[in-house]
Amino acid sequence: MNKLYIEGNKKLNGHVVISGSKNAALPILFMTILATEEIEIHNIPQVTDIKIAIKLLKYLGAKIKNKNKILYIDTSSMNIYNPPYHLTKKIRASIWMLSPLVTRFGKAKIFFPGGCDIGCRPIDLHLKGLVSLGVKIIKKDNYIIALADRPLQGKHIYIEKISVGATVTIMSAATLAKGLTIIENAAQEPEIVDVAKFLNTLGANITGAGSNKIYITGVSKLYGGYHKIIPDRIETGTFLIAAAISKGFIICNKTEPKYLTNVLKKLSESGANIKVGKNWIKLDMQKKMPKAVNISTSPYPGFPTDMQPQFTLLNSIAQGKSIIVENIFENRFVYTNELIRMGAKIKIKKNYIVCTGTSKLSSNNLFCHDLRGSATLILAGCIANGITVVNNIHHFKRGYESFMKKLNKLGANIKYI
Ligand code: UD1
Repeated sequence: MNKLYIEGNKKLNGHVVISGSKNAALPILFMTILATEEIEIHNIPQVTDIKIAIKLLKYLGAKIKNKNKILYIDTSSMNIYNPPYHLTKKIRASIWMLSPLVTRFGKAKIFFPGGCDIGCRPIDLHLKGLVSLGVKIIKKDNYIIALADRPLQGKHIYIEKISVGATVTIMSAATLAKGLTIIENAAQEPEIVDVAKFLNTLGANITGAGSNKIYITGVSKLYGGYHKIIPDRIETGTFLIAAAISKGFIICNKTEPKYLTNVLKKLSESGANIKVGKNWIKLDMQKKMPKAVNISTSPYPGFPTDMQPQFTLLNSIAQGKSIIVENIFENRFVYTNELIRMGAKIKIKKNYIVCTGTSKLSSNNLFCHDLRGSATLILAGCIANGITVVNNIHHFKRGYESFMKKLNKLGANIKYI
């Protein structure tokens, strides 16, 4: 069942409940390696990347109970420092094990993470950060070996390029290091704030997360605790687009509007009527087609690269011409070839595309290459003329909990073949 059958010409309307953030849950799961007591984590999204992270932790010796999106994790008896290749290669987030493992065991060995589906994704900034704190890094046969024969030492670190991944790696390594670490030019994503909040709950001393300067005063130990994962802002944005492209209305519940300020601005600009409450967002297209909007991705609080494919779809069927610039990843337009095969008028330039709206897309046999691109193609199938078949669907399962079920509840007709 690696294909979807999607009936087109659907209007997507109604309520959807947003799941926990995959990109917050992944680092948080790996940070449990630093703790010595049981931790209870709520709102865990049921997606394959998380299932792999759980398998990895279990392989290393963690005891994990999973009940209704609540994980009880006890890593106190963990005794393995080298996670297996067959699991680490499946998720890029496995790089986040390097820092807690070397902090805990004084050594770690990890296969270089994969994940080149949206361009080459180096990890040099993670490794440089660890070296600054006193870790010795050896690269051998596609493995990274990290060694620390004494406790890590706090440092003032300037990250050359804003990186979510490197900020998490350095912040976690500094948690149990001696003295003060200052991270400058840190990523400011809500997921970083959630990781810091989680570590503080366990006894860490981190301030400034959410700004570009994070201060971490090392502590001697992390304990147990309770944490609830923040809502997934990219899943929220994806469902808002689902309604926007089908002239529909939607209410996203259990979400956090303030994480989507720039996305909501662009949706308003495209003609959507948007209202927000404490934990909900309502979008109403009032049966109108969207207007084209220009997009330029940048680190948070800028426009998220993870919403770039979905907005290209919106622009493909919108009134007018738009330019979409991708500034984070070097190869994040692969999915556009599939949209072009559906009739979208897209011209790919270097790091930007020019899109001229067309009133209707037509169905086709589509192939997914990455997570956000796959969600975009599924939405495209829902509004195109005819029956669309989407192949390689393991991609969307990595990051969208019950995606088909949620879309079908809104009025889609999607089935496994
Ligand atoms: C995370 C998110 C991903 C999101 C991205 C940007 C997770 C699991 N993934 O990915 O969904 O699209 O943030 O918001 O949370 N870079 C380097 N060297 C490094 C690290 C990164 O050059 O050592 C570059 C990358 O190639 C990219 C840029 O920095 O051009 C930003 O990458 P980064 O923020 O680190 O993205 P990820 O953490 O991989």
